[in-house]
Amino acid sequence: MLEVVQRLVDQVEGFVPKSEKELTDFRISFLGKKGELNKLFSAFQKVPEKNKKEFGQAINKLKNSAQEKIDTYKNSFKKNSSVFEFDLSRPTSLAKLGARHPLSLVRNNIVEIFARIGFVLSDGPEVEDDWHNFSALNIPEEHPARDMQDTFFIQTNPDVLLRTHTSSVQVRYMQKNKPPIRILSPGRVYRNEAVSARSHCIFHQVEGLYINTTVSFSDLKQVLLYFAKEMFGEKTKIRLRPSYFPFTEPSAEVDVSCNICSGSGCNVCKYTGYLEILGCGMIDPNVLENCGIDSKKYSGYAFGMGIERIAMLKYGIKDLRLFYENDIRFLSQFANA
Ligand code: PHE
Repeated sequence: MLEVVQRLVDQVEGFVPKSEKELTDFRISFLGKKGELNKLFSAFQKVPEKNKKEFGQAINKLKNSAQEKIDTYKNSFKKNSSVFEFDLSRPTSLAKLGARHPLSLVRNNIVEIFARIGFVLSDGPEVEDDWHNFSALNIPEEHPARDMQDTFFIQTNPDVLLRTHTSSVQVRYMQKNKPPIRILSPGRVYRNEAVSARSHCIFHQVEGLYINTTVSFSDLKQVLLYFAKEMFGEKTKIRLRPSYFPFTEPSAEVDVSCNICSGSGCNVCKYTGYLEILGCGMIDPNVLENCGIDSKKYSGYAFGMGIERIAMLKYGIKDLRLFYENDIRFLSQFANA
């Protein structure tokens, strides 16, 4: 009999509850109405008188150690009672500050660089008509150049569309203002392109326009060199390649020396040492005339760049879709950029 009690004592002493339920079960099986101790107390009555003392002590020991176990663990499974939750004098946790979107940062940067040399902002509608987006810019209907910019039309009306570039803003400005004109038009543009790491159906552009009496191609080149150095660093070089845009003649595409490998060749610049950043050219006289500006008296240049592309180059981002996913882990990296 004593051996049975001793085995129960060992069991109690070795018991470590892993949950509140285990502790409750333990209590019921030892101290409950039909528990081990009550069984032993009933058995106690039948124990011969001479053994009663020893047996009684053993049962008491078992009872005490079971109770002790319960007392030790009874508070450990309760949820931390948070005394502090109601401490009104505690300092608050600081609300997290948001960060500017990388595209806004780059746009502001571009605007600021050109503002320093006298460019002012101009804005226009995102839903455009054919004339402002295409025809005025020397891209008549059926012109193959329309294929360069796959267009979203609004419903079935071929005259109403989502602007494919912010050159439409320049058209509106030329119609309403007399030269000299020096404007910058940042904004959202739309093209019917498959979404991939390198292209999206919505993106952002900044276009610039300068019109005056003696504007030459060398003025354009110098302004772009200034921009490239301000944007990518003093050592940046630019390279102009002949190109084609219906609204400029001559036209060029501008590359900047790769700021990752400093021109020596890496996988970002595909071992050419240069990266394409924008399109530009001297405004075609037809465009000036379409907008009511005397092309014999005035000349001008225009340039246009994609903000996403500049941001990707500046921050080394490889997938353009990241800009639109609103993932806070991505966006918060540019807070102090
Ligand atoms: N509008 C052109 C485009 O969207 C860019 C550009 C602007 C090219 C001005 C030359 C001059 O691709």
